[in-house]
Amino acid sequence: MEYITFALGKGRLAKKTLELFEKIGITCEEMKDPDSRKLIFANEELKLKFFLSKGPDVPTYVEYGAADIGIVGKDTILEEGRRLFEVLDLGFGKCRMCVCGPEQAQERLQHHELIRVATKYPNIAKDYFYNKKHQTVEIIKLNGSIELAPIVGLSEVIVDIVETGSTLRENGLVVLEEVCPLSARMVVNQVSMKMENERITKIINDLKHVI
Ligand code: PRP
Repeated sequence: MEYITFALGKGRLAKKTLELFEKIGITCEEMKDPDSRKLIFANEELKLKFFLSKGPDVPTYVEYGAADIGIVGKDTILEEGRRLFEVLDLGFGKCRMCVCGPEQAQERLQHHELIRVATKYPNIAKDYFYNKKHQTVEIIKLNGSIELAPIVGLSEVIVDIVETGSTLRENGLVVLEEVCPLSARMVVNQVSMKMENERITKIINDLKHVI
């Protein structure tokens, strides 16, 4: 039997994923050690391997078949645009992709003025403004703490993830428009889905029962 390899986005997502997998009898004890710097782990009994990577790299590993299955946020799936099958909404990591900014930006947004949009997700922002809203904007890519941009005058608005809304509140910003809902998803390599159909389908069905 071949190994089935899982790529998990490092951090909160991986922790939640392992909790969920335990419910269907998939365990990986050595992965639970929070101090470990090890990157790849195996469950020899079930012939499964798990590795941790940066979230945005998960779809890459899955598209190329270095991982058969990936667990990653919908935001990353949309942003990376890789060829893979999205097979399951895991129901955790729920949040929203939103256009946010100071209240006053609402008017400029509505009047389709040429505004600047700062974001960690340029492809999602482009798709939203160009294809859905038919609005021309200038997109500026940032790598984090996106809420800073409208505060220091880099952009009028941002496209970013809103979970509890506290980052926005604490910085005097509001949600102006909602782009799409987000949550953790399971993605599968297109060839693996055919070659290992039985085992992968069983994992999907088992997960469906506990979600
Ligand atoms: C994310 C996101 C927001 C914040 C939203 O940032 O980019 O800044 O969380 O959460 P809230 O609505 O519960 O306040 P993250 O902490 O991942 O770091 P980053 O800003 O470096 O991307």
